[in-house]
Formats: sequence, C-alpha cells, structure tokens
Amino acid sequence: MADNSKKLTTTSGAPWPNNQDSLTAGERGPLLMQDYQLIEKLAHQNRERIPERTVHAKGWGAHGELVITEDISKYTKAKVLQKGAKSPLIARFSTVAGERGAADHERDVRGFSLKIYTEEGNWDMVGNNTPVFFVRDPYKFPDFIHTQKRHPKTNMRSPTAMWDFWSLSPESLHQVTILMSDRGLPTSPMHMNGYGSHTFSLWNDEGERFWVKFHFKTEQGHEHYTNDEAEEVTGKTREGYQERLFNAIEDGKFPRWKFQIQIMPELEAEQCDFNPFDLTKVWPHADYPPIDVGHFELNRNPENYFAEIENVAFSPSNIVPGISWSPDRMLQARIFSYADAHRYRLGTHYDQIPVNRPKCPVHHYHKDGEMNVYGGIKTGDPNAYYEPNSFKGPVEVPEAQEPPLRISGDADRYNHRKEDDYSQVRVLFEKVLEDDEKERLFMNIAGTWGAVPEEICERQLAEFKKVHPDYEAGVRKAWEKVKADGDYKPNAAPVTDKTPQTVPAE
Ligand code: HEM
Repeated sequence: MADNSKKLTTTSGAPWPNNQDSLTAGERGPLLMQDYQLIEKLAHQNRERIPERTVHAKGWGAHGELVITEDISKYTKAKVLQKGAKSPLIARFSTVAGERGAADHERDVRGFSLKIYTEEGNWDMVGNNTPVFFVRDPYKFPDFIHTQKRHPKTNMRSPTAMWDFWSLSPESLHQVTILMSDRGLPTSPMHMNGYGSHTFSLWNDEGERFWVKFHFKTEQGHEHYTNDEAEEVTGKTREGYQERLFNAIEDGKFPRWKFQIQIMPELEAEQCDFNPFDLTKVWPHADYPPIDVGHFELNRNPENYFAEIENVAFSPSNIVPGISWSPDRMLQARIFSYADAHRYRLGTHYDQIPVNRPKCPVHHYHKDGEMNVYGGIKTGDPNAYYEPNSFKGPVEVPEAQEPPLRISGDADRYNHRKEDDYSQVRVLFEKVLEDDEKERLFMNIAGTWGAVPEEICERQLAEFKKVHPDYEAGVRKAWEKVKADGDYKPNAAPVTDKTPQTVPAE
C-alpha cells in the first residue's frame, strides 16, 4: 500500500486520533455521548442520499467541449454559436422511468442533456434521443409519468397503465412507435442521437427571430439491442452504459456528436401546414434541411459522480442572448418545472454548486437562503444589496433583450386534439422503417401486452390502424403469437372508473 501522508481530521479540521474504537465506559461498557466523531460519522451516513430526480433518475455523464465550425451569425448573435467558438460542457444521459439504481439496458427513451458553459452564462440543452415526445400539452405530463412509474398498490411497473394512457392519447403514437422500434434500446449513450426535440428560437444582431430545431448526431453510429440481447446483457451487468462511457473516455476514445440545426423563418410558422410548435411532430428534412454547425466531444470523466453528475442541474430556462424559446406549450411548462425541481432536490442556491456555477461573472440581487455558500450578492459594494441603487451595483443589460414574440392570440384553452396525430407516424412506418425493423416493432409491442386487458389492446390496435392497416395487422399477428405461446394472461378485473385500485400484479 502506498504511504498515505495525509492526516485524518475531523470535519472542522482537527487531527483525529482513532477511527476504529468508539469511546465506551469500560471495555465492555456502553458508548459515551462525548464520542462526537462517532455521532458525526453516523449522522453523515444518514444524509448521504438526496432525493433522486422524479424522472430521469438513472444517469451517466462526462465533461467535454462544443466546437462551432460553421458561420451561422445570420441566425444568431449567441457568442457560443459563433464560428470558432469552443465552450466547455457537461453531458448527462439518462433513462426516464427507472430509479437511481435501475438497470441500464431497458427499453425507454434516453435523456440527452448538455450544460454548455458560455461567456454569457450557461446554456442548457435538455433533450432526448428522440425528436418528438408522447404528449403535446403539459397538463398530460404528470399523468403520463405516473403510468411509467410503479403502480401505487402492486409497486410494480404496469403495462396496463402505459397502454391504457397511450391508447387514450393518440398524440403518443409517434413517440410510442420510435420507442418500440430499434431506436428504443440503444447499446450505450454513445450510440444514439440527441435532439432538442422542441422548437426553440435563435435571434440575430438585427433583432430577427428564426425558429430552430437542435440535433446532435452520433459519430459512433447507431447500435441497438433487441429485447433478448438486452435481457442477456442485463443478466451480466446492470451498469453497461456507465462501463462503456467511462471506459471509452479513460481509453482516450472520445465520443463525438455532429451538431446540426433546422431553421424556419419566423413568419413561416403561421403558414406551415402542421403546427411547428407541436412536440409530437418533426420538421421534414426535405422542407427544412439540416445545417451543419459544429460538433461536441466528451473527453473527461467526472472525478466524483455525486458532485458532478448527481448534483448537475439542467434547465430549459437556462438560455443566453441569441437563443430563446418558442410558444411550444410543453417547453413553456418546462421553463418553470426544472428550476423548481432543483430548488427542492438540491436547494435554493443550487446554481452555486461547482458543477452548476457559470464560468463567467455572476451578479444578481438574490439574497440569503439554503446553499448560499458563496454569499449570494456579489455587487462590489456592500451597500448595493437592492436594485436600483446609487452605489454602482450591477445594472440591466438592454442589449440582451430578445425581440418580441410575434406569434400570439387570445388567451384560451385551445383544443390540441385538433392536431393530426397520424400523418407523420405513417411516414415513419411506411418510408423509414425497414421490413425486418417493422417485424421487431410488432413483437416489441405485443410482447408488452402479456397482461394488458383486451379492450385496451383493441383500442390501441384501432389507433395503429388509423396510421396504417399494415401496422394494425402486424401487431395483431404478433399478439396472436403471444396468445398461441400461452403468454397472454389478461387481467380478469375490469378496468373501469369504479375499480381504479384493482389492477393486480402483472
Ligand atoms: C411538461 C413536460 C415536462 C416536464 C414538466 C418535465 C419535468 C422534468 C423534471 C421535474 C425533471 C427532473 C429534474 C431534476 O430533478 O433534475 C426532468 C428531467 C429531465 N427531463 Fe423533463 N419534463 C418534461 C418534458 C421533457 C421533454 C419533452 C424532454 C426532452 C425533450 C425532457 C427531458 C428531460 C431530461 C433529459 C431530464 C434529465 C435531466 C438530467 O440529466 O438531469 N423532459 N424533467
């Protein structure tokens, strides 16, 4: 063993003589209250866990760099997006539904988050490995997540709840099809794309706004497991993503993603034949071709997983001048939700945790509170602790004001059911998925129906039929096979409003 020359101390820095024997009254006697360092040690152990993220609790991450190689200054004034800019970043990938200790190789959407430390503040891109999402209105998000998490009575995941919700929410068809296709089970974080998913906006020096989609395309190539392969891998390791990402970086094989954008001029959004702010839709590449912007690479593992990956706090509210949001309802809700989650999970001043601290100067007037370890107010003069003041405290930056959002209307609860839920899924089914991939899609879906009540399966089949008759026929055939194999044991209890708690174990 190496000679460890560092001396053990208490948390307040005093040398500590004995970390093996507690202080007792006599050799066999009870403990003494005075053994404060023992109490300190046990108390620390009791506080080693913080609340896990309510979603995306299992994750893997690393540090890296975003490099901009192309000139997109006609779209944005953001310094981070100017040609030649190089910005440090931290990335965190995740599964959505599993808890902090869940197995890595589960069929699930993957989170794809980047915190880019720019000279004008942190820009967080909190996306997924899919370009669309299950719902288009934030009212539906908590219910959707409840169907992905454990059933309140059985404490097990419930395919019945998932398919019940999906079959009653046809806007989910696009994302469900992607989830059940090969893309729904990547072999590692390095072998999948990342998407901002929402429509965001860019604005330039002239105050012109452009709608934008962000894409990060894997340069490692796409790799996926079938369900059977994933089952086998999970039998050997539950941490395959962590192992592959960590080891690739330790071995100097730094993973890279190409950074591309799609651009839509601001007023074109009103003429577009689909709602470009609908998160269940993609922008067709033929109409909005991807434009190269640069790439990012991951090249440094965290020194401490908890400090850097568990404590990292991403939020779509973190934007910088030249980059902004859009009217997308889901994005609007997320602007609120993440910072709120961080205040609960990490503390009021979570932005002071080193991994979240901007690498540029920070001047604001937020005062005291939990985690205010660096002294919140840094204005250069102790008298400047409110705003406006006469003591040369930080002042507003008018040039950071984004142009007005020109899309607006009367406030109302507009019915999102009027959107088309089927056309884009049809294109995906007919034109993108290969025949063998379709076969796996059918089986992946039917394979989860082992205990799902027949009426729910039939309702979902009717939705597949609206996409394409072959989609319905394929899943029905696969379901017949599941039945013939004796693997279909539907829940005997009726799923009605009166019996919400009667769903038995699946
Ligand atoms: C209204 C819709 C949504 C709400 C309210 C919501 C809310 C949340 C919350 C509360 C967290 C946990 C944050 C934390 O404790 O650190 C989270 C994590 C996350 N969400 Fe969402 N979410 C929504 C939709 C989406 C969408 C559409 C995407 C992707 C396009 C997404 C991607 C992520 C990712 C990647 C994480 C994990 C971030 C990390 O690595 O720490 N979410 N979400």
